Amino acid sequence: MDSTSQPERPAHPSLSGCVARPAGACGGRRPAYAGAVRVVHVPLGSRSYPILIGEALLPRLGAECRKQRLGERCAVISDRHVAPRYARRVLQSLKDAGFAPVLIVVPAGETAKSLRTVGACYDQLAAHRLERKSFLVALGGGVVGDLAGFVAATYLRGVAFVQVPTTLLAQVDSSVGGKVGVNLRAGKNLVGAFHQPRLVLCDLGTLASLPAREYRAGLAEVIKYGIIADAALFARLERDLPKLLRRDPRTLAGVIARCCQIKADVVGQDETETGLRAILNFGHTIGHALEAISRYGKYRHGEAIAVGQVAAAKLSTQLTGLPRHDADRVAGLFTRAGLPTRVKLTAAQTKKLSAAMRLDKKVSGGEIKFVLAERIGQVIWGQKVPADWIEAVLQPAGEPSGHDAPDATPQSPL
Ligand SMILES: NC(=O)c1ccc[n+]([C@@H]2O[C@H](COP(=O)([O-])OP(=O)(O)OC[C@H]3O[C@@H](n4cnc5c(N)ncnc54)[C@H](O)[C@@H]3O)[C@@H](O)[C@H]2O)c1
Ligand SMILES: [Zn+2]
Repeated sequence: MDSTSQPERPAHPSLSGCVARPAGACGGRRPAYAGAVRVVHVPLGSRSYPILIGEALLPRLGAECRKQRLGERCAVISDRHVAPRYARRVLQSLKDAGFAPVLIVVPAGETAKSLRTVGACYDQLAAHRLERKSFLVALGGGVVGDLAGFVAATYLRGVAFVQVPTTLLAQVDSSVGGKVGVNLRAGKNLVGAFHQPRLVLCDLGTLASLPAREYRAGLAEVIKYGIIADAALFARLERDLPKLLRRDPRTLAGVIARCCQIKADVVGQDETETGLRAILNFGHTIGHALEAISRYGKYRHGEAIAVGQVAAAKLSTQLTGLPRHDADRVAGLFTRAGLPTRVKLTAAQTKKLSAAMRLDKKVSGGEIKFVLAERIGQVIWGQKVPADWIEAVLQPAGEPSGHDAPDATPQSPL
């Protein structure tokens, strides 16, 4: 096999800590947890923005938007699960700060991330006469964030937007970094833009209503940050997993802030994914293909990338010297988090998966390039991996491919 293509190593992101300040204050000594707001800075020059992380932050949204000097009129875009729970508080906060918000509610779920919903949002924005100085607020998970962000990137050639993520996945990943977009029938995220938010506000209280399966799916992205950039975070996750599974706010605040800091550092160095940003795709080549062959119905994104990360760790033991013990720790942590670590594929499904990987938009010149680990906390990207090696790690030893089945079945735990 050819694994000698020029692998690229991350010039290690400067993994600075985040600051914490008490509600309503700036700077000062690190406060006791209650009421503390952690602030992570995304360093993008004139497009830099803060990520605020804390409990009961929704009522502060209006005041924080004021600080960003946003225009008066705004639209809150949310979905049918989130709006009934949180839109009232968000609208009230905006009104209290002198804004004039309207609410646009879209269907919940991945199918809402479509050009059709984008069109419906444009129509409503125009009907409410939102203009260039207006801004949008994305209140919801990654679907609403990607959709509303894309609407903001394109309506009137671009208006400002604010992310208020309400899933764990959105708080640690999709709300930060400015990738926005929608799906086409031909594939996920095929239409999009880079459009950075002006502010990200993560209210940890919103995670309380998140269904358990969605919460666990978010943990797959959390674990990813440990593998790609921070061995100490990975060890902390191993230690504090029971607290995380209980959604302990103090543990969550620290872990979410650390993940956002890593993403902010990576995005700050490579906003448009010309290199380093690729490390955020650890486990995603196989993960996206699994989502595609099961037509986005069977797996949550986090479940698919859990399988993908365990497979990437196995490949890493063969190709980039990841110690076997580290690969076992990776599989062990996903298992303890209640996430699938492999799938049982028939021969036909394995072929479909290989074909789907070649269609992924991260493939260039027909070559599948992987992010692989050298050890927990350090990865390299741009690794060519032959398709038969990938198939081999997905196929459990001693279990030959079975008969055709309608779709792939996740197995958890192993
Ligand atoms: N832009 C990026 O950089 C990026 C990164 C990762 C993922 N994504 C995208 O994010 C999307 C997945 O995001 P997701 O996992 O957040 O899914 P999602 O937005 O579909 O949310 C999951 C479900 O939880 C519901 N929900 C959300 N918040 C809730 C809450 N607080 N209480 C109760 N229910 C709640 C939603 O209505 C939905 O039914 C995918 O489309 C993926 O492509 C984007
Ligand atoms: Zn992801």
